[in-house]
Amino acid sequence: MQEKRLVPMIDQTEIREINRQLALKITDDYSLILAKEEPIIVLVTLKGALFFAADLMREIGIPSQVDFVRVSSYGAGTQSSGKVAMSKEIETDIHGKHVLVLDEIVDSGRTLKFLSERFLKQGPRSLKLAALLSKPSRREVEINVDYIGREIPDRFVVGYGLDHANNYREMPFIGILD
Ligand code: IMP
Ligand code: MG
Repeated sequence: MQEKRLVPMIDQTEIREINRQLALKITDDYSLILAKEEPIIVLVTLKGALFFAADLMREIGIPSQVDFVRVSSYGAGTQSSGKVAMSKEIETDIHGKHVLVLDEIVDSGRTLKFLSERFLKQGPRSLKLAALLSKPSRREVEINVDYIGREIPDRFVVGYGLDHANNYREMPFIGILD
């Protein structure tokens, strides 16, 4: 097997700027609907959205509570299996709460569609979706993602939480795995 090459795509400075812009928009939108001191519930998809969530939450100027969900649609390869499975549920009662779901990348759209349908059944006051990256050309299901940091072409990317077979997550930048 040939060695994989890693080509830098989005550096640390750009990631920080993307998060800052997203946070500004999110803070603006929520300050219109939140009661005073009311926190939003941030639901983070493990493991990939870990770094994104940690950085974004600290940029958002409103109180928040965090919880985690684990979903997988990928095996060890770079192609989606087309199936979404949940392996860890949230522990928070989101009924009547303002909920923001964070994923690191939208590909086919299945993960966020699956999650939003599931969380909507639990009666949140509002439900919004945010993703650091999106590959619009790969969309297979219709899903409206409220906040997208950056659109990218159809390339497999790793770093800043994104993995290939669980590797590369700790890289501080995002690169294309060729
Ligand atoms: P979707 O359900 O097809 O939208 O896939 C979303 C999930 O697939 C993401 O949360 C990632 O975990 C994974 N994924 C999609 N594209 C990539 C990629 O380029 N690199 C790493 N993981 C990816
Ligand atoms: Mg993911």
